[in-house]
Amino acid sequence: MAVNQSFSPTEGAPPRLALAMLGVGLAMIFIYPISIFIYNVYFHPLAKYPGPKLMVATRIPYMQMIISGRFAQKTKALHHKYGKVVRIAPNELSFIEADAWKVIYGTRVGHGQKQKDPRFYPPTPGGAPSIILSDDADHSRFRRLLSHAFSDSSLRGQEPIIKSYVDLLMQRLNENIASGTDVLDLVSWYNFTTFDIIGDLAFGEPFDCLKNSNYHQWVHILFGHMRMSAYANVARRLPGSGRLLRLITPKHVTSQRDWHFDLTKAKVQARLSKSNERPDFFGNILKQNDTGKGFSIPEMISNSSTLIIAGSETTATLLSGVTYLLLRNPRILAKLQEEIRSTFAREEEINLDSCNKLDYCLATLTEALRLYPPVPPGLPRIVDVQGDLIAGNWIPGGTIVSVCHLAASHSPINFTDADQFIPERHLDDPRFKNDNRGAMQPFSFGPRNCIGRNLAYVEMRIILARMIFNFDMELAEPEKDWLDQDSFFLWDKSALNVKLTPRKKES
Ligand code: HEM
Repeated sequence: MAVNQSFSPTEGAPPRLALAMLGVGLAMIFIYPISIFIYNVYFHPLAKYPGPKLMVATRIPYMQMIISGRFAQKTKALHHKYGKVVRIAPNELSFIEADAWKVIYGTRVGHGQKQKDPRFYPPTPGGAPSIILSDDADHSRFRRLLSHAFSDSSLRGQEPIIKSYVDLLMQRLNENIASGTDVLDLVSWYNFTTFDIIGDLAFGEPFDCLKNSNYHQWVHILFGHMRMSAYANVARRLPGSGRLLRLITPKHVTSQRDWHFDLTKAKVQARLSKSNERPDFFGNILKQNDTGKGFSIPEMISNSSTLIIAGSETTATLLSGVTYLLLRNPRILAKLQEEIRSTFAREEEINLDSCNKLDYCLATLTEALRLYPPVPPGLPRIVDVQGDLIAGNWIPGGTIVSVCHLAASHSPINFTDADQFIPERHLDDPRFKNDNRGAMQPFSFGPRNCIGRNLAYVEMRIILARMIFNFDMELAEPEKDWLDQDSFFLWDKSALNVKLTPRKKES
């Protein structure tokens, strides 16, 4: 009995204490996040902006959207539901209006550029900054040095290089048809062409994709890492992200990345040994190197990689998209065929200058850029500490903001018949007089917009014109909704199988 009496209070205390501590622990685990959720939903400075409760309360659904590959489509759906401004994470807003482009991506008196959100962008391998992720001082130096390579006169100097690869594309397609392979995956063929062109312009030599009818390993690895970059985007938002990234990155990805970097380095070294007089991206910069004002070698390595990634896949994506949209819309295809085939008697007449005069062709490409922007998500920027007025909304400093390309250009707020492919809207058709064309900026806006826009247009116009001039095309898998794709920063495109027939020319 005595044993039992003395046992009870002394033995009972530790479990009670442990229980009490467990209770406090559990309360901390649950109450802390719950109070954060409540704060985010009801008391946060962004509380007045609409969005799904869960997205407003925590960033987890945002991260899930990134990993799912449906980030841009889901943002588009959210704007359809909630309107012009949507809160897509506790401290992040998405916009779709033309005015938002100007404030988020432009520079104005009293405000510098809004900084890019470093968690969204992958760091440049090798450590040296590249134009995409450089600070403002480096960025304006890179822009100034590269601007010559993208000037009108340089583009004219580059035209023979571009033409040689488009010639080879046409030759390869004709060879395939002649050998009985008339159904071809145009995603691959457009990629082969744009990677060879940009490889030549950046490294002074192509990747030989067209020559070998295959992706070079350098290009292959890039594609393989697209999904991985979405995981990295999410991991960068978690505590201990450096360690976490090392843990989740499979060994073969690390070794491929090293191989990629080493090959880029070797290709840059090879370019350095070539003439400075080549009209490519680095010809002029190398001349500046003699005066000490050019790029350092690590900067050349990081920037050449960036130029290739930014300048090849995007252009090939748009060419694939416009081909698909044309083959789905016979009226528009017929009108484009009429413009191209009545303008040119011979293929040799198709060049930079003559393509500039094809108004319907330009409207078709612009409409494809609207419906299928090669960079579909919003590109996040951080509002400076003093806060800013964006499209009529006061936004506190530190908020992450963007305009989602896909959502803005598909919004019925901005465009009549927004989901329809109608090039006439860019040719002053009165049916579309209320369209707000400033809401679509597929090349982005402001000091960090696309430096390669004119080059992209030259490539797209010449390649599309020559495809239409030479071939009749039809979808080999008409039942497939090719536009139903995931995107990890860029679209994750499946094969676009098209049956090509050499065009029957009237005698
Ligand atoms: C249809 C084709 C193209 C589209 C839709 C496109 C789109 C874009 C977009 C949206 C950006 C802004 C990225 C950001 O803010 O993070 C960008 C930047 C850039 N693009 Fe393009 N691009 C295309 C073709 C090209 C070509 C052919 C080149 C040539 C190499 C190129 C080189 C670049 C570079 C270097 C940047 C970074 C500019 C800077 O930060 O100052 N792009 N592009």
